[in-house]
Amino acid sequence: MKDLQDKTAFVTGGASGIGLETARALAKRGVRPILADIEGARAEAAAAELRAEGADAIGLQLNVAEEADWARAGEEAAKFGDVRILLSNAGVGGGSGKFETYDTDVWRWAYAVNAHAHLYACRTFLDGMKAAGEPTHLAITASMVAIVPPPISVAYISSKFATLGIAMALRNELADTDVGISVLCPGMSATNIVATTAKLRPGASEQGAAAQTAQNMSGVLAGGMAPGPIGERVARAIEAGEFFIFTHPEWKVMAEAGFAEMLAAFGESADPAYPGDDIASLVAANGAKRMNVAVGR
Ligand SMILES: NC(=O)c1ccc[n+]([C@@H]2O[C@H](COP(=O)([O-])OP(=O)(O)OC[C@H]3O[C@@H](n4cnc5c(N)ncnc54)[C@H](O)[C@@H]3O)[C@@H](O)[C@H]2O)c1
Repeated sequence: MKDLQDKTAFVTGGASGIGLETARALAKRGVRPILADIEGARAEAAAAELRAEGADAIGLQLNVAEEADWARAGEEAAKFGDVRILLSNAGVGGGSGKFETYDTDVWRWAYAVNAHAHLYACRTFLDGMKAAGEPTHLAITASMVAIVPPPISVAYISSKFATLGIAMALRNELADTDVGISVLCPGMSATNIVATTAKLRPGASEQGAAAQTAQNMSGVLAGGMAPGPIGERVARAIEAGEFFIFTHPEWKVMAEAGFAEMLAAFGESADPAYPGDDIASLVAANGAKRMNVAVGR
């Protein structure tokens, strides 16, 4: 998507961190951002900040996990402009502590915000973007933990794997449209995510070792990359039409080791007499024209 001037962008989780900084980087390129966030007042304050820098921006309140909220957000967005860039970015940490001890509501909440919300975002805006008659772009925020899972929250890692899967599957669906797609996989960034997660999580606050882990994570992430350069990188990827957006190359060596292990595990067929999967038929059965691997957009 080369020409960003005067295009409207809808950014979830836009009041803070990576969403806000991506909106700022896009605004520098002439984009008109809509900052949507569960914290409506903070979204409006962030939009005022961007307006003070010369951008045409608004903030609005939206809980991405509430399907009913999306209809209103879509109507408010349409009054501001036709959405041509969609950043489905809002996210929260999962629970800390051992998997089997997770609070079920926290587990469901992490998936609702981090993964299910992409469906609602696309349901609200993708039709219009496809029909725009010009290039448009969808960027989805996953995480480096979906490429290289470190020993952190199972809820967070697995919901980010779901997000990566949504982006990879959507890439196939969008291959023959004018909608470009990116998946952002950042490493550690010094944002408000630990505090936001503690504030928004359903049920009681974490106790004991889980609370200690959250506090430790807050300290570790404080030393992470500033979100500003990540936002700039996302804006450049949208302009260049890149699918994978990697911001932290220090993880590459671990990705190589992980994929090498996976590739080495491909051995003999379980049934040596089987001729092998008919992948062309699989593609055709789903009305697609080709595998999208390495095709890129
Ligand atoms: N910070 C990191 O180290 C890091 C690393 C990899 C990926 N990410 C991802 O980046 C994205 C942005 O997070 P961030 O680090 O900028 O954190 P952040 O807390 O600074 O920003 C996230 C924003 O999302 C909003 N939000 C949370 N739940 C919401 C909901 N239900 N509806 C609408 N808005 C909601 C919050 O209010 C907040 O303003 C997330 O998807 C996160 O998982 C962050």
